[in-house]
Amino acid sequence: MARHLITSALPYINGVKHLGNLVGSMLPADVYARYLRAAGHEVLAICATDEHGTPAELGALAEGEDVAEYCARHYEVQKDLGNRFELSWDWFGRTSSPQNHVLTAHLARQLKANGFTDTHATKQVYSLTDSRFLPDRYVVGTCPNCAYDRARGDQCENCGKPLEPTALIEPRSAISGSTDLEVRESAHVFLLQSRLAGRIREWVDTKADWPQLTRSIAYKWLDEGLEDRGITRDLNWGIPVDPDDFPDAAGKVWYVWFDAPIGYLSATREWADDRSGSPELAESLFDTWWRCDRGADDVTYTQFMGKDNVPFHTLSFPATLIGSGEPWKLVDRLKSFNWLTYYGGKFSTSEQRGIFMTDALDTLPADYWRWFLMANAPESDDSSFTWELFGDAVNKDLVGTFGNFVNRTASQVDRHFGAVVPSGGESGEIEEELWVAVKVRMGEYIDAIDALQFRRAAGALRSLWVEGNVYLEAREPWKTVKTDMDRTACTLRTALKLALLYSVAAEPFVPAAAGRLRDGFPELADLDLPFDTELPAMCREAVEEGSEFAKPGMLFTKLTPEMLDEWSQRFGGAPE
Ligand code: MF3
Ligand code: ZN
Repeated sequence: MARHLITSALPYINGVKHLGNLVGSMLPADVYARYLRAAGHEVLAICATDEHGTPAELGALAEGEDVAEYCARHYEVQKDLGNRFELSWDWFGRTSSPQNHVLTAHLARQLKANGFTDTHATKQVYSLTDSRFLPDRYVVGTCPNCAYDRARGDQCENCGKPLEPTALIEPRSAISGSTDLEVRESAHVFLLQSRLAGRIREWVDTKADWPQLTRSIAYKWLDEGLEDRGITRDLNWGIPVDPDDFPDAAGKVWYVWFDAPIGYLSATREWADDRSGSPELAESLFDTWWRCDRGADDVTYTQFMGKDNVPFHTLSFPATLIGSGEPWKLVDRLKSFNWLTYYGGKFSTSEQRGIFMTDALDTLPADYWRWFLMANAPESDDSSFTWELFGDAVNKDLVGTFGNFVNRTASQVDRHFGAVVPSGGESGEIEEELWVAVKVRMGEYIDAIDALQFRRAAGALRSLWVEGNVYLEAREPWKTVKTDMDRTACTLRTALKLALLYSVAAEPFVPAAAGRLRDGFPELADLDLPFDTELPAMCREAVEEGSEFAKPGMLFTKLTPEMLDEWSQRFGGAPE
């Protein structure tokens, strides 16, 4: 049994996330966490809302709400949606928590003590109309790199280039639209990443097993030279800089990208505080996951994120932890994703294109989305959502393969044998061959999931379902029931063993359907069926003649062309 810490990039607080956000971090993290738990490992799956910075302030402004209230409300919305998507977090925290304030202040203090910070005057955009500074996304204008006219002060959405607000051409306020702006001086704290670059490169060099996409992004930034980074902002909302530690930056708050990844630690601390009776116990529990000198050295830490987040997780966040001089746990495995598009275009909140978590759940149960998204995860390239592909994934795989197998098996059992596992008959060569094939498929499945290759894993799971259907087609229990009851009993008993196997194997991807199937074997409710290559043998053994089997009902419903058509109308469908 190993210990696994799993985090997914913390979703911004500003509004309901779309399916692209979900498939790029939270969903694969959940599939992996469920798999590891089922394989008998100790797992801590952590997520939280990322509540600071301009996304939060601008979101609150748009809804005319106080920022703290806005965040509290949207936190509940996101947590509820995550639960309804069956994201099995051990804790879903908030970066605005007291725990994050404490840890952020602590790490900043450590960085300063080690000589990795510097506070100096900078030029910032100030809006006379709004009577305030306009950091990051508060200012929009034309990108100096690609001439895109709606580039934001922190980054150009079009060409991806990180920007300084003062670099924008024809800048204007995102709050009022005012162009009555000037450049004023303001002192800010900088993280001296240039001084940490050597140690970060040494650390990245040890990560030969990171995927190519991740490594190339990290080296690109290292090769271009890590720049020192302003880590405070002139904003009201955020974690205040401690004036005792940084008197020259009193009144400022930490930059959202400084405190947000510290949220991984602080959300763990929220979890520990919630579970422990005293701060001392909470601290030692927290330490076993995060402090390598206090138990975290045997933890495997895996992070999930979209590719735009990779520089922050391979460079700046490690710079914070390494620069602290304390033995914090650093990421071991980092899985990053490309984009999921909607008919090849961007999901867009403002243009109401694409599918958001609320829409998805109003339309169909989570399993349908989970399956489509993971089976088409944007791993090696961007992938596209279309209603045609979605309909195919549901109808062919879930309805036509998994559902069909379970349905045919359960109906025949129910009709001819009642609610029990059929007795009689002896398994023969065809069953031996079946179990050999199933064991091979199971091995492929486990290899893929261990390698964090989700499309390949979904493909292997699909092949497991196919084996069951091929077996049923070969044995034709619906025909043999008229001529050979023993053979029919053996066939259906074998099929039920496979069904039990599927209830474990499918659980990471489609937990609700898998759970209903597993409930079909009430006498095996407490049986521990570990998710490994011995699972087929264990299922074969566990399902006994005469034991109870309760028909689970239809696991999935077929999607008709009319349904798909209606949804594609409602959600914007193919672009004209
Ligand atoms: N909120 C960011 C995004 O959606 C991700 C933050 S990840 C963290 O892009 F590490 F900072 F938490
Ligand atoms: Zn640009």
